[in-house]
Amino acid sequence: MDQAEIKQTLGRAAAEGLVKSGMKLGLGTGSTAIHAVRRIGELLSQGRISGLRVFPTSFQTRSECEKLGIPVYSLNSPELGGGLDLTIDGADEVDPENRLVKGGGGALLIEKLAAYASASYAVVADETKLVEHLGIAFPLPVEVIPEARVPVSRSLEKLGAAVVLREALRKAGPVITEHGNLLLDIRFREPVDPEVLEGEINAIPGVVENGFFTGPRGRVLRPLVYIGRADGRMELRD
Ligand code: 5RP
Repeated sequence: MDQAEIKQTLGRAAAEGLVKSGMKLGLGTGSTAIHAVRRIGELLSQGRISGLRVFPTSFQTRSECEKLGIPVYSLNSPELGGGLDLTIDGADEVDPENRLVKGGGGALLIEKLAAYASASYAVVADETKLVEHLGIAFPLPVEVIPEARVPVSRSLEKLGAAVVLREALRKAGPVITEHGNLLLDIRFREPVDPEVLEGEINAIPGVVENGFFTGPRGRVLRPLVYIGRADGRMELRD
């Protein structure tokens, strides 16, 4: 199977296996999570599930939901009341304890909101995302307000990170997030403690959020991870 087929299989399997009628559901962003969104659209249109209330984590996911007739709500709406039963999302890196790096698609802020507001959390990731240590191979995104770009970069360097401002591809200048911020992509040279760093990075003035997903204070995030192998096998790891 090529990577695109693995992503499709994973997204569809998570949707079919986990989504039940009436759920308050967070839907993630990216080329794997989009297949869960599409499968949910199919299941709804076939009448196999109903009564979903969906919280999309990005423009991409919201517009796909709207196209497919999947009802979307704000997390602040009375229909969701600030909480979700389940979120399904992709990831950029998964370590042996199922801790994550996310934000390759720049949607980490709302993705973390969904993940940490969910009773259950499922991640769909092909095997190229499995790593021993987070934040070394794939860069960790840090969302910062524009005015804080340089001071935050200096603070991150003091934590041992190499820092690169994420540049846009078909626009001159940087990527601007859906919240008007910048993304600093950072890499550590040596293994770090993601639980400690998640909090330390967020304590730097001007940082909005970072892409370590280890769990809200006092609660470890324990995602159910669907891992797709190149030979077509799919494993569940929790
Ligand atoms: C977006 C994300 C994505 O979930 C992550 O980048 C994985 O994307 P893909 O499934 O396209 O490989 O965190 O902000």
